[in-house]
Amino acid sequence: MEIAKRLEGVGEYYFSQKLREIDDMNKAGKQVINLGIGSPDMPPHADVIKTLQDEAAKPNTHAYQNYKGSPILRNAISKWYKKWYDVELNPDTEILPLIGSKEGIMHICMTYINEGDKVLIPNPGYPTYRSAATIAGANVVEYTLKKDNNWCPDFEAIEKEFFSSSPAGKHNVILMFVNYPQMPTGQLPTKEMFVELIAFAKKHNILVCHDNPYSFILNDKPMSLLSVEGAKDVVIELNSFSKSHNMAGWRVGMLSGAKERINEIIRFKSNMDSGMFLPIQLAAAKALELGREWYDEINTVYARRRKRVFELLELLKCNFNTNQAGMFVWAEIPGEYKDGYHLSDKILKEASVFITPGGIFGSAGNKYVRVSLCTTEEKIEEAISRINTLLIKLKHNF
Ligand SMILES: Cc1ncc(COP(=O)(O)O)c(C=O)c1O
Repeated sequence: MEIAKRLEGVGEYYFSQKLREIDDMNKAGKQVINLGIGSPDMPPHADVIKTLQDEAAKPNTHAYQNYKGSPILRNAISKWYKKWYDVELNPDTEILPLIGSKEGIMHICMTYINEGDKVLIPNPGYPTYRSAATIAGANVVEYTLKKDNNWCPDFEAIEKEFFSSSPAGKHNVILMFVNYPQMPTGQLPTKEMFVELIAFAKKHNILVCHDNPYSFILNDKPMSLLSVEGAKDVVIELNSFSKSHNMAGWRVGMLSGAKERINEIIRFKSNMDSGMFLPIQLAAAKALELGREWYDEINTVYARRRKRVFELLELLKCNFNTNQAGMFVWAEIPGEYKDGYHLSDKILKEASVFITPGGIFGSAGNKYVRVSLCTTEEKIEEAISRINTLLIKLKHNF
């Protein structure tokens, strides 16, 4: 069959392919240690699971749900945004629960992009921004994040490259994806950068989609772009239960913004799905009531694992910043490897340890690798030991 033109240039997701390769290696008895994907291995809080069980056991929780999500979940999201980000959101009009924030990226693209519109995406950045915008017909353009600029957008350079040659309003850029704490670099945002971003978006009349799933992981000052004064005029923010509440497989996320934006996006989304299973929504609301102890507990585990990952990266002679947020460590590879793919392939083949090559996040990530913290300390120690053995073997061979 001939596939639709909109899928041209959109391949199978890298991890979907890679997991098949790892699966084949495991079937051949390799027992690969996967330090690639960011899927939390710890369970949600016991109260969250209990809420799901109790609600699912009731006879009246199984019908189609409201397209705008349960009011109980929307209220919980509103309170959570106030408590942790100091952002006021009207639970009736400014919040839309999602089946994971990944689907929100697609909804936003389908709601706003016309054929040929330019969409700015970060390089390096989450690959879904490119694929969703491409499927929606956009002309995707990249803004480069550089280590020397703390992986923050260089607004002057972006302005020069994409906004200066045509009169205001004629530049064709309609949407910009931004994500802090940034994946894959682990870079934290600053309030100043956020303020600059809002001013930039207003000046050029573009919509900013801030993707914010990592603000609670290894970061004690969660920040929302919506906390900047006037942000609702130009910002839609995505957030997620996947990382902060260990609920990646549950598929729950949220979108927040001005009432008009929520209504516009519902116009698309309500034609795509028919709401989310109510017990999942009620359990998600429960998750948002958890106190600081919950976040401290998961972060204590991630911090311990991160120490081991630092050891692993030192062994590989990689350079990295120790002050990164999120559930990965981003590290620059030593000169002896052509790129991150070279290093990743070598240790996968010869030590059965998988780490992600930075190039999958864009060309600016070519000289980097990303190591996930979603594996037990014991497994990370085992990975260190395998890599150590490999390095000793290589030393003796040369
Ligand atoms: C930057 C970023 N945004 C969004 C997502 C998707 O999150 P969700 O599970 O809520 O769809 C991920 C998941 O890896 C991510 O890294």
